[in-house]
Amino acid sequence: MARSFTEIVDFSKEEIWEVFALCERMKKGKIAPKPLAGKSVACIFTKESLRTRVSFEVGIYQLGGHALYITGPEIKLGQRESIADAARVLSRYVGMIIIRTYAHSDVTELARFASVPVVNGLTDMVHPCQVMGDYFTILEHKKKDVIKIAFLGDGNNVANSWLNLASRIPINLRIGTAESTPPNRAILDRAMKNKESKILITADPKEAVKDADVIYTDVWASMGQKDQLEEKAKLLNKFQVNTALLAGASSDCLVMHCLPAERGREITDEVMDGPHSVVFDEAENRLHIQKAIMTYLLEH
Ligand code: CP
Ligand code: NVA
Repeated sequence: MARSFTEIVDFSKEEIWEVFALCERMKKGKIAPKPLAGKSVACIFTKESLRTRVSFEVGIYQLGGHALYITGPEIKLGQRESIADAARVLSRYVGMIIIRTYAHSDVTELARFASVPVVNGLTDMVHPCQVMGDYFTILEHKKKDVIKIAFLGDGNNVANSWLNLASRIPINLRIGTAESTPPNRAILDRAMKNKESKILITADPKEAVKDADVIYTDVWASMGQKDQLEEKAKLLNKFQVNTALLAGASSDCLVMHCLPAERGREITDEVMDGPHSVVFDEAENRLHIQKAIMTYLLEH
């Protein structure tokens, strides 16, 4: 079994900092390794994507490799054959597997039986590359030991990844969400138990954003749950990131969104296009952090 990245807690605290350092050097162009030279990478996407697909394909090319984009209907993961067999077959052809899909257990199963690294490009449970890139973006903008991050909205895969990062490095993390849309219980319990970070779950958006260095939001209904949008919108309406809410945060707070945004729902145009927003820096940094993650996995 090769070293994989199925969720942030697959890396130790030290490894996370090594990946950030590698990312910084790569972004500055100080190192130009080609760890994927002569190798192909299978990029399995059973859900739609703009950023993840393009940043991985571009990153794989820049690392000397070749990306194969494979969609859900072609591969029918776990249906045409077992995930274990698909993992064994793919490992005979490619040097790495990137996967975006629904069930997180499909990714861990693939990683268990693959003899090459598997990288999670989003599941219903977590979105680890996103939050690694987002924290790197914060590090570029904020020079503080412990950042106050307020995540507002659905307790979804991105919220869960923030909790996973908080399990490993110290963050003052507040999740503002409705009582019926909480993050994953086991992930929250682990983050609480690890005591690395200060964590608060609150149904009060003002409490969540008070003096925050970063306000972060995501769509209210994730891929695969779009039929729940109107129901979730009613529950999460008060967590909209708008100018009034921003007033309670630190005056130089960053506004972040993993994108794609549903403008006018979880975030207003005014805030997303305003001076606090770093949403496109985040999108760019997906490329750099994923190159660093892929390189790290191939070298360790
Ligand atoms: N943020 C993100 O993962 O975007 P895509 O869904 O477009 O890949
Ligand atoms: N929570 C969102 C993130 C998209 C990048 C989703 O899963 O659709």
